[in-house]
Amino acid sequence: MTALDFGFTVEARDGMARAGHVRTARGVIRTPAFMPVGTAATVKACMPETVRAAGADIILGNTYHLMLRPGAERVARLGGLHAFMNWPHPILTDSGGFQVMSLSSLRKITEEGVTFQSHIDGSKHAMSPERSIEIQRLLDSDIAMQLDECVALPATRDEAARAMELSLRWARRSKTAFYASEPPPGRAIFGIVQGGTDADLRRASAEGLVEIGFPGYALGGLAVGEPQAEMFATIAATTPHLPGDKPRYLMGVGKPADIVGAVARGIDMFDCVIPTRSGRNGQAFTRSGALNIRNAKFAEDKRPLDERCHCPACRAYSRAYLHHLVKAEEILGAMLMTAHNLRHYQDLTAGLRTAIRRGRLDAFVEAFEGGGADY
Ligand code: GUN
Ligand code: ZN
Repeated sequence: MTALDFGFTVEARDGMARAGHVRTARGVIRTPAFMPVGTAATVKACMPETVRAAGADIILGNTYHLMLRPGAERVARLGGLHAFMNWPHPILTDSGGFQVMSLSSLRKITEEGVTFQSHIDGSKHAMSPERSIEIQRLLDSDIAMQLDECVALPATRDEAARAMELSLRWARRSKTAFYASEPPPGRAIFGIVQGGTDADLRRASAEGLVEIGFPGYALGGLAVGEPQAEMFATIAATTPHLPGDKPRYLMGVGKPADIVGAVARGIDMFDCVIPTRSGRNGQAFTRSGALNIRNAKFAEDKRPLDERCHCPACRAYSRAYLHHLVKAEEILGAMLMTAHNLRHYQDLTAGLRTAIRRGRLDAFVEAFEGGGADY
């Protein structure tokens, strides 16, 4: 094995939780890991240097957005996504299925793939498992995702079963396409478990994917409106059917409490727009809970967002100043709030890694739930 080979090592376990490393061509990802979302070749309102300084080892990019604008072939001609956006570290790309379902119009799903109209200019596009993998190769992502279908919840069991089975067939086609044109070293493709909130469907999906065989496995179709307890139960019903020596990625999750609960149930990787999107909107995550900086009570508050945070916002700026910036819709407000929230999420996952390595995850979760966050 060369240093460039893709791999995952679990170095510590605490209950179902694991701490370790994912190795990719462009670097190592410490797990549990949070991946900031860089949908359109940018983590919104944040320089790559700031994303890195917050502690991120990997970011997420989106096939759907980049194929529409500026186009995957163009990104490839410009040297790939990493060079294009000045992020030389690992990038995971989502396959596009989920974004087609949530953003585009006139969608049609067939066995072959999905056709849709762009949310940007109404132009018509087709995406098959093979084309999704081709786009992700053109972007030169380190971790590609299979094309899948995520049903909106609540869904009937029949509907969830149909989408899960289609996703399994697309998993096989995605894997075949990924390895048909030999990937450069250190790249991987993950399969995606679907099946709604039905434990039997989730088990069948996981077992089907494991039979096909992937370097990593994602859980899709969650955090789509179901209560947190239902999401936790679905995770707990799924992770026991996935290999212990492969990374597990919970897609699109979540709030800090969702991440803590999912790590305790065996998840290693996360992505979510919450820290960036809600930061631009005025919500800050702190060790004593979330606050909205637009609230009038912060207008003359000279303290930083979080006394224990070392981000650029907390090092030099008051809540009063951030309150002013966000209320005035100043761009710097979005930048500082984003930098803070990304740092907070990275501090949270770092705290989880340390707690797992010390065999103290229970105490960490208890302190977190009691509002006395220990990280
Ligand atoms: N992002 C959040 N949920 C999902 C999902 O179910 N599938 C994919 N591909 N991406 C997601
Ligand atoms: Zn901060």
